[in-house]
Amino acid sequence: MTDGAPDVTALKRNAAEQAVERVASGMVIGLGTGSTAKYAVEAIGRKLKEGDLSDIVGIPTSIQTRDLATSLGIPLTTLNEHQAIDLTIDGADEIDPDGNLIKGGGGALLWEKIVAGASAKLCIVADESKLVDRLGESFPVPVEVVRFGWRTHEAQLREMGADPVLRPNAAGEPFVTDEGHYIIDCRFPGGIVDPHAVHDAIVGRPGVVETGLFLGMSPEVFVGRSESG
Ligand code: A5P
Repeated sequence: MTDGAPDVTALKRNAAEQAVERVASGMVIGLGTGSTAKYAVEAIGRKLKEGDLSDIVGIPTSIQTRDLATSLGIPLTTLNEHQAIDLTIDGADEIDPDGNLIKGGGGALLWEKIVAGASAKLCIVADESKLVDRLGESFPVPVEVVRFGWRTHEAQLREMGADPVLRPNAAGEPFVTDEGHYIIDCRFPGGIVDPHAVHDAIVGRPGVVETGLFLGMSPEVFVGRSESG
């Protein structure tokens, strides 16, 4: 930190490494996705290599994380082999004061939510910019939908106060998730007053697979903070 701006990379790494202190030998670990969770996966790989951890198996929340974990030599398993996860470490796009989250900026929300739901403990790692008073303040809610008839959701999303946009990939084509679905990013100007009602209304629609609202999961939150933060 030289010009007063926080070193976000350091904040992310710091949060991730604190959370990895919760990992013990013998655990089944959910491996999150994104630029912050990546530091946790790297720290687990390092500890395994150095002998500070042993007998770990990981369940990745995306193909991207699967590939990273494999490159680090972390033994992997599947949720069908191990349906109970001891601990998951994952990132978030927004965190409200009650520990409710928006996730899915990296497009992995579906596997992330399934893994979080199967975990005895969920650790969320983030830099301080992710803390909000109200969900939706700064980040859209990703809604994963099947590709067939995806436009049928737009009108109701607008009626709910959202501004729905089909997520593009780097080539400008529709982004496709690891399960072959599209994502509609829903910005709610001013934030979301009742996240449970919004989640229930959206997810009840035929063709909607999941939303990026992770509610009532009571995670332990590790926040990387700058000195002035
Ligand atoms: C991945 O789909 C997301 O849920 C990420 O966990 C979330 O977007 C946070 O990512 P960063 O740590 O890269 O900000």
